[in-house]
Amino acid sequence: MTSRPPFPAKFRILVTGGSGQLATALRWRGGAAVRVVGRPEFDFDRPDTLVRIMHDIRPDLVINAAAWTAVDAAEDQPDLARQANVEGPALLAWLCAGQAVPVLHVSTDYVFSGLKGQPYTEADPVSPRSVYGRTKAEGEKAVLGACAQAMILRTAWVYGPTGRNFIRTMLTAARRHSRLRVVADQSGNPTSAGDLADALLGIAARILHAGWQPHYRGVFHAAGSGSCTWHELACVALKHAGLTPPVMPITTADWPTHATRPMDARLDCSRLRQVFALELPHWRDSIGPVVAAMLRHDRQAVSG
Ligand SMILES: NC(=O)c1ccc[n+]([C@@H]2O[C@H](COP(=O)([O-])OP(=O)(O)OC[C@H]3O[C@@H](n4cnc5c(N)ncnc54)[C@H](OP(=O)(O)O)[C@@H]3O)[C@@H](O)[C@H]2O)c1
Repeated sequence: MTSRPPFPAKFRILVTGGSGQLATALRWRGGAAVRVVGRPEFDFDRPDTLVRIMHDIRPDLVINAAAWTAVDAAEDQPDLARQANVEGPALLAWLCAGQAVPVLHVSTDYVFSGLKGQPYTEADPVSPRSVYGRTKAEGEKAVLGACAQAMILRTAWVYGPTGRNFIRTMLTAARRHSRLRVVADQSGNPTSAGDLADALLGIAARILHAGWQPHYRGVFHAAGSGSCTWHELACVALKHAGLTPPVMPITTADWPTHATRPMDARLDCSRLRQVFALELPHWRDSIGPVVAAMLRHDRQAVSG
């Protein structure tokens, strides 16, 4: 992970996403300059809350880390997913435009079909296969349409010490079952929430210190370096946790889910490197500390 001095408190960065993984990481790393808002204070389902927060906080920059992230549930509740991933972010971006402040909006690799066979660049057309992916793709367009100073940061397979994520699911399953079955034919870029938070804060620092540049507008891929399958990620995470159940590789067909996931949505992040000199650490270097922090966090939660 990169070490970056905390933001001067003279800047106000508004972060949405309440208790979410990324918002929590931004809160931990951003210091006094970061103000995190969540429900009910800030709720995409209640547009008046967005107007009030933007009016009260008067931020210098906004990072939108709030989203409907329940991929399978979105299939049954497309209207709620749309409100959180399209309409809400569009209004937020419009309010940013009204106050002439930049917005960094976080999106997903699930905007792609996963059928390209090699890492996706920002120039590749989106082709989502799920309601979640479709709403996130629509949200990207809506945010860019509403605000000139808008950046879309697409990330992938986010995991942090708190909140719901694949690694926590694996650790819990390994304590309950004598052996696990994990999908081994889907590939992606595991991304530590802390690493992503550092990158976002690095971009924010650049913008706040040196001003917005026209070539910042648009889409950037921002995921952890290196790629793997869910199976490989599970094996490495369990090893760091000292858990040793056998982990059987299975296919997507063996583990049907309500929403279709991309088979190979690896992201090419070279634009981020070229424009901001930023490269997120390799997932293999980040996973150990995150698993350790997750175990510590869970022990503290149990001991009260
Ligand atoms: N998790 C991943 O694997 C992954 C992968 C690719 C991209 N992303 C993107 O990365 C960003 C951050 O994800 P994350 O992992 O931090 O997600 P997360 O842990 O699920 O957090 C998302 C947050 O959004 C908030 N939220 C949901 N609906 C809302 C609404 N209607 N109004 C206001 N807030 C709402 C939730 O609030 P509450 O705390 O009140 O529930 C939650 O705290 C999202 O844009 C997501 O699409 C995530």
